[in-house]
Amino acid sequence: MLDLLVKNARLAGTTEVQDIAVKDGKIVEVAPKIDGDAARVLDASGYLVTTPFVDSHFHMDSTLTYGRPRVNESGTLLEGIALWSEVKPLLDATDIKKRAHDFCRWAIAKGNLAIRSHVDICDPSLLAVEALLEVVEEVKPYLDLQLVAFPQDGFYRDPKAEEQLIRALDKGVHVVGGIPHFERTMADGAASVKALCELAAERGLMVDMHCDESDDPMSRHVETLACETTRLGLEGRVTGSHLTSMHSMDNYYVSKLMALMAEAELHAVANPLINITLQARHDTYPKRRGMTRVKELMEAGINVAFGHDCVMDPWYSLGTHDMLEVASMGLHVGQMTGQDQMRQMFRAVTTNGAKALGLEGYGLDVGCYADFVVLQARDEIEALRLRPARLHVIRRGKEIATTPKQETMVFQGEEAHKVDFLLS
Ligand code: FE2
Repeated sequence: MLDLLVKNARLAGTTEVQDIAVKDGKIVEVAPKIDGDAARVLDASGYLVTTPFVDSHFHMDSTLTYGRPRVNESGTLLEGIALWSEVKPLLDATDIKKRAHDFCRWAIAKGNLAIRSHVDICDPSLLAVEALLEVVEEVKPYLDLQLVAFPQDGFYRDPKAEEQLIRALDKGVHVVGGIPHFERTMADGAASVKALCELAAERGLMVDMHCDESDDPMSRHVETLACETTRLGLEGRVTGSHLTSMHSMDNYYVSKLMALMAEAELHAVANPLINITLQARHDTYPKRRGMTRVKELMEAGINVAFGHDCVMDPWYSLGTHDMLEVASMGLHVGQMTGQDQMRQMFRAVTTNGAKALGLEGYGLDVGCYADFVVLQARDEIEALRLRPARLHVIRRGKEIATTPKQETMVFQGEEAHKVDFLLS
């Protein structure tokens, strides 16, 4: 007896619909037609069944604080950082946990079942670290939440950060973070990358740094990150987040840099919504786009994933945690409108993110966890265009969220027309 049998599922890259059989929280068979008894049969009606969305870069300690104690009127990174230091003293553990749980429910509703969140370790009480470590365990039945020890005020620039970052790792934070471009000098930035990668190597941890989130073409800490990754044998376990300075770098230098990044098997994470709004604020016209070179990095064989970064916090006033909105923005900013390129954008918020986070059992193959989302769209490109309803969100074979099918009726005189935004 199966636990769940999904009928008529359209899988990415296939033309014929498939059935998916689930037992004990795992996929046990995928075939054009599966017969057998199941506790529940779900008809996907030819809609796309995808692996869950993955948010590869987020800040759960600051999310949903919009308006506290005021909003970021300029919308700049610097006003955001100043505002965050006004918010931090107002926080307590109950508030952090409530916002995190509220937010995780938003994520689940959108089919996002894996999130890597940076957590600021510069508060001496490590309040957010302790609160979010509890949330990690509490949401485990529903989503995978990974935490990164993030020294927001600088690993060296803040004299307390080094000791506190180590304490956060001792408490169980999963990934080593950093912010080399925010250190006082380029030399300090490079030294921080070296020290943090050594720390990760000693402890067998992954690394994910805010790296070169700047319009300065000379902000080249990703070069050191790639070099240290190779030197310490951390290939495949290190992520460079943002990398916006790459947008402004000299093309010849980038051709050397991308080879180093590929050699180090570095993962690159872009945050299209945030990069397009925060970067290039000093520009008049022409204005730079402020997103890293997504297309070129992908062409160089580097794994590129996307993050939402912020939702309703000191840096970004908008968002519902829709990773298809993120992919759509990445597609537009990166001018990746070819069919294969659009499919790559979909992968940037699904499989590529799973690779960067090192998720196990992620996929729609036999033996993978029965985690998937039924979208009200027939393929990835339609999903990017429509940002459709997540009809069913399944985790370990159980339904954890549903959204009704979206349909609009338009009334013209005596006639009623159904509008579904599909070519007729
Ligand atoms: Fe960030």
